[in-house]
Amino acid sequence: MGVDGDLLKQYTMATWGYKQGESVSLMIHLGVRLGLYEALDGAGPVTAGDLAAATGLHERWLREWLRSQAAAELMVSDEGETFELQAEAAMVLARKGTPTYAGGVFSHLRNPKVADGLAEAFQTGLGLTYDGQGEGSEQHVEAMLAPMARALLVPRVIPALDGVADRLVAGAKVVDVGCGTGLALELMAAAWPDCTFEGYDVSERAVSVARDRFDGVDNVTIHLAGGEDVPPTADVDLMMTLDCLHDMPRPDLAMGAIRAAISDDGTWLVKEIKSSPEWSKNLRNPMLAMMYSTSVASCMSSAMSSEDGLGLGTLGMNPAVLESMVTDAGFTRFSMHDLDDPTNLYYEVRP
Ligand SMILES: C[S@@+](CC[C@H](N)C(=O)[O-])C[C@H]1O[C@@H](n2cnc3c(N)ncnc32)[C@H](O)[C@@H]1O
Repeated sequence: MGVDGDLLKQYTMATWGYKQGESVSLMIHLGVRLGLYEALDGAGPVTAGDLAAATGLHERWLREWLRSQAAAELMVSDEGETFELQAEAAMVLARKGTPTYAGGVFSHLRNPKVADGLAEAFQTGLGLTYDGQGEGSEQHVEAMLAPMARALLVPRVIPALDGVADRLVAGAKVVDVGCGTGLALELMAAAWPDCTFEGYDVSERAVSVARDRFDGVDNVTIHLAGGEDVPPTADVDLMMTLDCLHDMPRPDLAMGAIRAAISDDGTWLVKEIKSSPEWSKNLRNPMLAMMYSTSVASCMSSAMSSEDGLGLGTLGMNPAVLESMVTDAGFTRFSMHDLDDPTNLYYEVRP
């Protein structure tokens, strides 16, 4: 059989492109860790010597790093001697407060040992929980999700829910299931201090970070327990599941518990990854390869971490699946909000 040279070249470039991404990711990690992007932000075109003077770091190392960044098209360079971090690049790599900031995602490198657990999971079928995915995985999740959460949750998402903002102003009971490190609770508690807040998560490390975060705060309590264990109090005004139902082995059980915990006139806010049951529609997502890879390594792995896990994974909770599952759990009202979040959809679910 003849070899198609063009196809061979295409697969070779695609494969090495991912290896290049791994190497450049390590360079971005170093740039974030050493404060290099921040030092370059607003500095205009600089040489390695200028950057060395500004940071106190070694000039030869900086020159090679700067060249890696220009080669990766993250900076512009004149002849590989002067380098400029443009303002738009700074919004992605240097400016921590901006919704487009992505530098935090590179702060936590995945422990290569996690691959051992994943390789075993392919044999046993049993995935790794978030705690099994390597130290720092909870910080990595927060770094991934924080910029959009900060930009949208309080100013855009809550106001889109019928009557919820008024209820929060008056003082309400809010429960965040799958709360992770507690960022959403922190944002909500700052905006609506008269509410009481509870968070639930099964990750010991995430819960420990969340508990430290709310140390000495009276109106926020964090439980080390799953969504399926939320008690049936029938008094929760606002229930939230943010980017976590698809990670749960048994989201159906969590939904049943949420139905029994929510008050009759309560609201359940669901944030889930934008996805479609149609492969061709998902292909329009330029980050689809990253999302399926993250599913194997993280979301589906967590969702397969018990013998009876449904294994939905990153793209598994599309609107049709969610509507059908919440209906089965006893909810009767379901609406969707698309709120300028490139990755997620928001749903308003009521008893
Ligand atoms: C992608 S993180 C999202 C965390 C947080 N909601 C946020 O937006 O930053 C998914 C979280 O779901 C949690 N999780 C997985 N299974 C769970 C379960 N059965 N009950 C509650 N939380 C669960 C994981 O431990 C992890 O913290």
